[in-house]
Amino acid sequence: MSLVRIQPRAFLICLIRVARLLPHMTVRKTPDIRVEPVRNGHGIVALKAFRPGDLVCAIKGTIVSSDQVWKYWDTNPRMAANCMRYDADRYLNPEGEVGAFANHSCQPNSFVLKEGRRLVIRAIKPIAAHDEVTHDYATLIGADDIWKMRCNCGEPRCRKTVQSFHKLPAGLLRKYKALGAIPDFILSTP
Ligand SMILES: C[S@@+](CC[C@H](N)C(=O)[O-])C[C@H]1O[C@@H](n2cnc3c(N)ncnc32)[C@H](O)[C@@H]1O
Ligand SMILES: [Zn+2]
Repeated sequence: MSLVRIQPRAFLICLIRVARLLPHMTVRKTPDIRVEPVRNGHGIVALKAFRPGDLVCAIKGTIVSSDQVWKYWDTNPRMAANCMRYDADRYLNPEGEVGAFANHSCQPNSFVLKEGRRLVIRAIKPIAAHDEVTHDYATLIGADDIWKMRCNCGEPRCRKTVQSFHKLPAGLLRKYKALGAIPDFILSTP
């Protein structure tokens, strides 16, 4: 009987490939949140209750230029779609971090805010343990961003298409502005 010898290098390459297929498994878990299967793929799920205003987590990642995001559209569209606007002309790429699993809802229980140099997720409604933590992607999509998404959030008031903040229904836009949910660098996009 002959045994097939697996070279350590081949084994390592295999492990890296599997990890790329299962990105949620490579995300570090925190005591407060975890990445789990949800309605729309994987999402961030609360492991404890949050009150309105509580910090859910900081969104870590790499700050990249808008030119870099255009390149991702050719090489890795999933990564491109996950990039979040960080300022007038830069984006945060949350690859490998929990922010890469933050799903959208048209009736979100959190917002992504810029606090100092960090993007953070803060609760805007009470979030119970086991609830999915969602935000409204439109609050981070500038008037000059062309990205759109067909929404499957399942909420009764789902807008069906998620796109730039300036296309939000007038009443919702007023409400989000009053709550300070739309960063200035988004509001001032041309
Ligand atoms: C930041 S990732 C979130 C993690 C993603 N659910 C996954 O499993 O990898 C953003 C992507 O999730 C999907 N997504 C998030 N919210 C959604 C929603 N409300 N309806 C449909 N797709 C959604 C879209 O494919 C979107 O480009
Ligand atoms: Zn929706």
